Amino acid sequence: MKTKLKTIRDKALSAVSACQNINEIEDARIKFLGRKGELTKILRSLSSITSEERAAIGQLSNQYKREIESAIELRKDELSKKNIDMLLRDEWIDVTLNPRGTISTGRHGYLHPLSQTQYEIEDILTSMGFQILDGPEAETEYYNFEALNIPEFHPARDLQDTFWTEDGNLLRTHTSAIQIRGMEKMEPPFRIAGPGRVFRYEATDASHEHTFYQIEGMMVDREISVSHLIYVMKEILKAIFKRSVKVRLRPAYYPFVEPGFDLDFNCMICEGRGCRVCKHTGWIEFLGCGLVHPNVLKFGNIDPEQWSGFAFGMGLNRLIMMRYGINDIRHFMSGDLRFLYQF
Ligand code: PHE
Repeated sequence: MKTKLKTIRDKALSAVSACQNINEIEDARIKFLGRKGELTKILRSLSSITSEERAAIGQLSNQYKREIESAIELRKDELSKKNIDMLLRDEWIDVTLNPRGTISTGRHGYLHPLSQTQYEIEDILTSMGFQILDGPEAETEYYNFEALNIPEFHPARDLQDTFWTEDGNLLRTHTSAIQIRGMEKMEPPFRIAGPGRVFRYEATDASHEHTFYQIEGMMVDREISVSHLIYVMKEILKAIFKRSVKVRLRPAYYPFVEPGFDLDFNCMICEGRGCRVCKHTGWIEFLGCGLVHPNVLKFGNIDPEQWSGFAFGMGLNRLIMMRYGINDIRHFMSGDLRFLYQF
């Protein structure tokens, strides 16, 4: 009996080490260890031998079973390593090569103007101690509205009509949702920024799109005031336009800040005298901002008695339009190469 067992074990071990792929290993496992496998069959026949012998045989066959099992695991590892090596050797491609049959245009891919400016502003913000966070484009009602002090049935929800998914979530209408997600993760004091794509249920025209880009910023610390906000905004503008820029605040209503403002900067095309771009006001609307509403801090588990903060949300598209003199916001998502190759 013992020799029979040993023969099976030896057979199994050499079969496993000869396997060339996962399927073969599985076949070998079934052949020897499966319900009708060779080792199992032997164990089934134990009833015909004496009980002392049975204990010894049982022990031995368990030991062989373990040996075969670990040989199987080992072989699996070896094969998967070999597989990866083979893929690396055989399936590499030269991504710098023109696809067969095409002629080089001499033009390489590069970043979309939205990405270029987004990364530039991210660099400016990180240099000022802001940490860049990300958030999902499909958001929950809680993060997009409720935790931002916009409860259900509040008329402010109508200001930002959006696209709803069938399961009750929505495409975020602003990056402000990232404020809440950020507060949940961070311990004050902190500075965070959240760039991203946002969506509104909007009739499109030259200055309105259903899909556009924003960058959110939030600073939470002790005794934050409007002057901190203005300073940081001016520094950002200075870094973007490489010169100092005059700004003004107008009172504005956003449920998640109090007081809330719209921040304008002096039109750089006419130096504030009034032109078509600034609709003859001398000012360009740049972003919404304000001091974080105590309710919002509470939703982010931050004690408003001890901490305060400012937040801002800037639209990227219009900023880029201003920077390069782009006259229609719909160019950004058009995918028109004649537009894109200019940047
Ligand atoms: N979320 C606002 C919007 O999209 C902008 C904003 C952000 C206003 C932060 C105040 C503070 O219009």
